[in-house]
Amino acid sequence: MSQAVSHPSPADRASGPESASGEPRPLIAALAPAVPVEGLACVVLAAGKGTRMRSARPKVLHPLAGRPMVGHVLANVQALRPERVVLVIGPELEAEAAALQEAAGPLDCVVQAEPLGTAHAVAQARPLLADFAGDVLVMFADTPLVRGETLAGLVRARRESVGAAAAVLGFRPAEPGAYGRLILAPDGTLERIVEAAGASEAERAVTLCNAGPMAIDGRRLFPLIDAVGNDNAKGEYYVTDIPAIVSGEGGTCTITEAPGDEVMGINDRIQLAAAERVVQDRLRRAAMEAGTTLVEPTTVWLSADTRLGADVTIGPNVVIGPGVTIGDGAEIRPFSHLEGVRVGAHAAIGPFARLRPGSDIGEGARVGNFVEVKNSTVAEGAKINHLSYVGDAGVGAGANIGAGTITCNYDGYAKSRTEIGEGAFIGSNSALVAPVSVGPGAVVGAGSVITEDVEADSIAVARGEQSERKGAAARRRARRLTKATGD
Ligand code: UD1
Ligand code: MG
Repeated sequence: MSQAVSHPSPADRASGPESASGEPRPLIAALAPAVPVEGLACVVLAAGKGTRMRSARPKVLHPLAGRPMVGHVLANVQALRPERVVLVIGPELEAEAAALQEAAGPLDCVVQAEPLGTAHAVAQARPLLADFAGDVLVMFADTPLVRGETLAGLVRARRESVGAAAAVLGFRPAEPGAYGRLILAPDGTLERIVEAAGASEAERAVTLCNAGPMAIDGRRLFPLIDAVGNDNAKGEYYVTDIPAIVSGEGGTCTITEAPGDEVMGINDRIQLAAAERVVQDRLRRAAMEAGTTLVEPTTVWLSADTRLGADVTIGPNVVIGPGVTIGDGAEIRPFSHLEGVRVGAHAAIGPFARLRPGSDIGEGARVGNFVEVKNSTVAEGAKINHLSYVGDAGVGAGANIGAGTITCNYDGYAKSRTEIGEGAFIGSNSALVAPVSVGPGAVVGAGSVITEDVEADSIAVARGEQSERKGAAARRRARRLTKATGD
């Protein structure tokens, strides 16, 4: 399988302060600024089992900030504006290929039918890159935090090191553990990489490790890949054998070193959580740099596609899930959870509000304490301030939804809509049984169960009539008192 789609990369789409639609840019655009490198192709390895995740989901689809890990790698790669990108996927990812191509910009997908190792994975890109004479940057899809600038530096290092066949990105992790170790020659060039599984005690003591990214002279790539064997602890074809093969032929490889927080590989859920913290920290910084107030940044969770206008304030303990756009000057108060929603300028959300997908909150609207809104439009200036559920509804401009109002949108079989007109007033503790509409300017009395449409400017009350027996409470008290004292 090999298919190319051609459309602008997400980074191109987000090149101004606002996109063409006038929307704020997604935060992630700020994390992968363009660092163009001429004459470059990239191969991203995303096949393999990912056994250490202990998951039914392929490892590289596990999300960081709501976006698959491999999506982060592709965004970092696209920042280099490569001439070609080849994504090597396993059969389990074939169904996702189109979505990944759509999200990541122009790339080709090839399938590695069996996960026989990282060199075998690179070999799958041969039909697309055999004629490529520039640099080929090989990247692992489980190493999603490397910045474009670091990758560009790696390619520069190979080009500037006379005659070097490859440049490998090294780093010095606090716990070298399962990482491959970089064994240097006395002159500081890279002699070979030893995988942890096959390393001697002395080699395991080396602290300089292989981060994964490797820039290789495109003219030499496939002959080198062909020379890789599988006589090792795992019986796999390791791309990390390349430096030893180059050394054996009398050639050289070089290295550059990256900061540890960029290059951690994600193989298990503990590393996934550690990477999430790094991504969140970067998104929070990007948000604050762009003019958002985060009252207590470490407690705010953002998504890669979060779009924030100017002067937004986000209080402590707020979760912004995927698909959220927040307009200028809006305030998201503590303990609110938003996903798939557009919040208009100067709206006030929370504390303790839950905004669910398909919702659109208008300019200056208020959605307050313990209110859930799902798949609903709340027009400008409307207020839903306390303890309500508004689902599959339209709330008109300036309408006031009283405390405890429920739109009964589900009858056990189907969902139905509730329409509330402009300037309507819904009294507290009302149930609006959908499908139903309350016209503009109408008033619904508190405690009503509304099952029929209410006309514009009417007052509808649907509850038991109030009756009153004068003095009855006093008479009852007297009776009970007599009984209790036995008189
Ligand atoms: C690899 C390196 C190791 C390095 C570490 C950095 C090898 C042999 N080892 O080890 O030196 O320190 O990354 O994180 O390269 N993949 C395929 N097809 C396969 C096998 C793997 O596409 O047949 C992909 C995986 O999706 C993954 C990447 O290649 O994204 C690396 O594979 P993984 O098994 O995670 O290698 P590590 O053991 O982490
Ligand atoms: Mg790995």
